[in-house]
Amino acid sequence: MKKLDLLYEGKAKKVFKTDVEDVYIVDYKDDATAFNGLKKGTIVGKGIINNRMTNHVFQILEKAGVPTHFVEELSDRETAVKKVEIVPLEVIIRNVAAGSFSKKLGIEEGTKLKAPTLEFSYKNDDLGDPMINDYYAIAIGIATREEIDKITELVFKVNEVLCKYFAEAGIELIDFKVEFGRYKGEIILADEISPDTCRLWDLNTHEKLDKDRFRRDLGNVEDAYNEVFKRLGIQ
Ligand code: C5P
Repeated sequence: MKKLDLLYEGKAKKVFKTDVEDVYIVDYKDDATAFNGLKKGTIVGKGIINNRMTNHVFQILEKAGVPTHFVEELSDRETAVKKVEIVPLEVIIRNVAAGSFSKKLGIEEGTKLKAPTLEFSYKNDDLGDPMINDYYAIAIGIATREEIDKITELVFKVNEVLCKYFAEAGIELIDFKVEFGRYKGEIILADEISPDTCRLWDLNTHEKLDKDRFRRDLGNVEDAYNEVFKRLGIQ
């Protein structure tokens, strides 16, 4: 497969065209941003971990019946993916209170929720990714009712599979964000699942093993990413 023109450069990834129909190459960077780009930095080796972890997790999800954009891992940082049209929604599930949820509702971080929550944000940097609901998404024309229902069904399945998967590695899945895309009339999981997009706490000590270490200047950021990677035993 030939890597052709750069199509798009985001905060953490570049996307390239290829000579294969309906296939793009994603190239993961070590650049880290937070607070809608206000905080910038580098997490050395992050691109490799996020690429390889996403691919590993996506293959587990495929086996569990969640369709994904994964095609083939090409190198430590590069993966061939299906060319999707991204639905501009950040789809967030929370199992334990943390981050913006704790702040908004005054609920202490670490409080186990009685049931997982689902929320949507409209992916729009200029607006700061405002939280919206399914009716807003349909009203502004970014998804149909059928697509929202499919996304809802799939993201709860992702949560179920991942909670178990991380728990076996001694990690609690506090919350996470995923994105979906349209591919040949189907809704499939796209983007990434990594310590950039999940809150992952040590099951026993509750030590943070995710991007909050960067966001909150907690130190040992690279160590945390490496620890997750090591515990998951990705070959
Ligand atoms: O900040 P907040 O508590 O709303 O984040 C919830 C989850 O979504 C966290 O796991 C965070 O890493 C993820 N997230 C993300 N990208 C964003 C916003 C949140 O991956 N732009």
